[in-house]
Amino acid sequence: MTGNVTRDADTWSLAGLVELAVSVAHEAGALARERRGAVEQMAVASTKSTPTDIVTESDTAAERLIRERVLQARPGDAIHGEEGGHSDGESGVVWVVDPIDGTVNYLYGFPHYAVSIGIQVEGTVEGGVVHNPATGETWAAIRGSGAMLDDEPIRTSQCTDLSLALVGTGFSYDSQQRAQQAEIVAGLLPQVRDIRRAGVASLDLCAVACGRLDAFYESGLKLWDSAAGALIAEEAGGVVTGLHGAAASQSMVVAAAPGIVHELTSVIEHLTTSRSFRSSR
Ligand code: IPD
Ligand code: CA
Repeated sequence: MTGNVTRDADTWSLAGLVELAVSVAHEAGALARERRGAVEQMAVASTKSTPTDIVTESDTAAERLIRERVLQARPGDAIHGEEGGHSDGESGVVWVVDPIDGTVNYLYGFPHYAVSIGIQVEGTVEGGVVHNPATGETWAAIRGSGAMLDDEPIRTSQCTDLSLALVGTGFSYDSQQRAQQAEIVAGLLPQVRDIRRAGVASLDLCAVACGRLDAFYESGLKLWDSAAGALIAEEAGGVVTGLHGAAASQSMVVAAAPGIVHELTSVIEHLTTSRSFRSSR
């Protein structure tokens, strides 16, 4: 990746794409925040994989806005969005969009949700932006150039001892998967400082990036949940990986300060292979 992204005669720098993502994320975030303030009780518009996997009208409105703005600026790009699905492009650039990550928090009025936009170029995530409209914070990264929270460079924690680590995780909407995730978290909890389940994977990854968490792991995440945040965590000096030497994927994303990543992955590997759910898979 040279840092230049070409479409027809136009050449955009990666920095230009990330700047566009920041402005689009801010606009979509403002829309979500205003809609949240305007209605006392938000409504569930529909459900997806399970009755608890919800969509509000704000999710669809925010994604519509993001699609419009991106395609106005870059009509040849593809968009891969949680609510609107995949639309093809011919430029090699794919915008991986979660218009509201943390929809359950959003529905209940917890001021912790995010617009997450990853920018994939020829199959690799090269840029990422995560914006929390409730706090106004924005994390951004360009591959090879570090990560920022607002205008400040950020680094992961210096933690080197898993027993002192604050570890974030999250759970699937599927109850069978949750039962397995519960077994892992039950095995991990006695071995760490504490566990956090904040309900927004993209913000969990950003929390690792800026040292608010020492580590995060979750199985079953979709690309739109993790694309931007994983790059931000990596660019802040964190290690993002899967289990047993595999790359991070839908089966497992582990993001951690470098000093504890090996200890954490081996504990999770041990728990996933030794606990009772092994026989039920
Ligand atoms: C969810 C959140 C949550 C994670 C779930 C995701 P959504 O995304 O990121 O923290 O545990 O796995 O699906 O549904 O709020 O966009
Ligand atoms: Ca979402």
